[in-house]
Amino acid sequence: MAEVKLPKLVVLTGAGVSAESGIKTYRDAGGLWENYPVMEVASAAGFNRNPALIHDFYNARRAELVKAQPNDAHRALAELEKWYDVTVITQNVDNLHERAGSSNVLHLHGELMKIRSMKHPERVCELTPDNLTTSLDTRDPYGDPVRPHIVFFQEAVPNIEPAAKLMEQADVVVIIGTSMAVYPAAGLIHYARRGVPVYYIDPRPVPVPDGITVLPVKATEGMRQLIEILRPKP
Ligand code: APR
Repeated sequence: MAEVKLPKLVVLTGAGVSAESGIKTYRDAGGLWENYPVMEVASAAGFNRNPALIHDFYNARRAELVKAQPNDAHRALAELEKWYDVTVITQNVDNLHERAGSSNVLHLHGELMKIRSMKHPERVCELTPDNLTTSLDTRDPYGDPVRPHIVFFQEAVPNIEPAAKLMEQADVVVIIGTSMAVYPAAGLIHYARRGVPVYYIDPRPVPVPDGITVLPVKATEGMRQLIEILRPKP
């Protein structure tokens, strides 16, 4: 029997989707960038200046991540795969979408649980909960020094082209928990075709173009509402 083609649902998530898992956002009060000078711990210049500080910063975030669990918003996105061909484009570096069961996750800003060779960037290794920390002395299996597999500020975002193509093909777009403060990620909403429904879930939504349906609630509540809107009607 011919496989039924499901409508394409493309999701763009930011730190807000992981807030209810206890992961700090960046720009909220008490957020990550309030306690760390972002250009010291998350930029290419900062890494060149003080790589040990960057290793420590990401070691601390991995220690926090392994204690966190996906929340109902992550799980609802995985549930939507029953009725939609879902791709999650995330700015987040956590692995909570994957751990909640989402099958197609595209990371724009890298992945916290991965490191890569400084000499051969294509050599990417996965860290495990019992092997979380890296330092200047860490070597990959080839003997190369390593760095976090994170896109630092001032570095290119290699996955932005595939992300834009996915957005152009979307039949439904959902944006969850992002302040739209960082480009090129924030520009992705302009790739949605005219007439495609776009939903934006955020308790403190930033201004967005007309026509976008804003659900000014937390991710878990917004996804409860959205499942009812997007669930196929009998
Ligand atoms: N549910 C949904 N959204 C929430 C929740 C929640 N429980 N709590 C906070 N938010 C929203 C905030 O209102 C804000 O709009 O999440 C958003 C978080 O914004 P930022 O902290 O700026 O995070 P994000 O938009 O993901 O940042 C983008 O900036 O520093 C870089 O690389 C980093 O990927 C990150 C990028």
